[in-house]
Amino acid sequence: MPATTDARGILSEANSEKRQEVIDMLKRAYWMEIETVMSYISNSVNPDGVRAQEIKESLEQDIQEELGHAQRFAERIKELYGVVPGSTEFEAEQTFLQPPEHQTDVVHVIRGVIEAESGAIDFYNEVIEATDGVDPVTNDMMIEVLHDEEGHRRLFEGFLREYEAEGLA
Ligand SMILES: [Fe+2]
Ligand SMILES: [Fe+2]
Repeated sequence: MPATTDARGILSEANSEKRQEVIDMLKRAYWMEIETVMSYISNSVNPDGVRAQEIKESLEQDIQEELGHAQRFAERIKELYGVVPGSTEFEAEQTFLQPPEHQTDVVHVIRGVIEAESGAIDFYNEVIEATDGVDPVTNDMMIEVLHDEEGHRRLFEGFLREYEAEGLA
């Protein structure tokens, strides 16, 4: 609990309920990033073939960015007087980013990445709406992270277009 006399803002006593709501959303966002890091590590290593190289390299770079997002969310949870959850609270959701049957199935990976990024984009928009006008710092952070995710998705949509144009997806 904050030892302050703030009259307004997300850290004020009056906003403690809203603050808890934001913390819960940030925890969910944190786990989404952690799972994305796991999925991108495996998918930056597993795929085989000449065409897989671009995808692997791109995911390899994304890993650091997604990890950075998780760290930013963790910091913000603490600033809001929350506690960053421990690993036993983790529940996996990314069924679509599991290794494909054949490691040359790059389209499976591309579609999985698009789905992961879309899930993040959808939820971060929800957080942006929920924090609008009440928690400008979380709001601002989420807008920046949303920008990253939109960039990631667009890049992989471009990869998918190439496969679709060649009748491979
Ligand atoms: Fe992310
Ligand atoms: Fe992303």
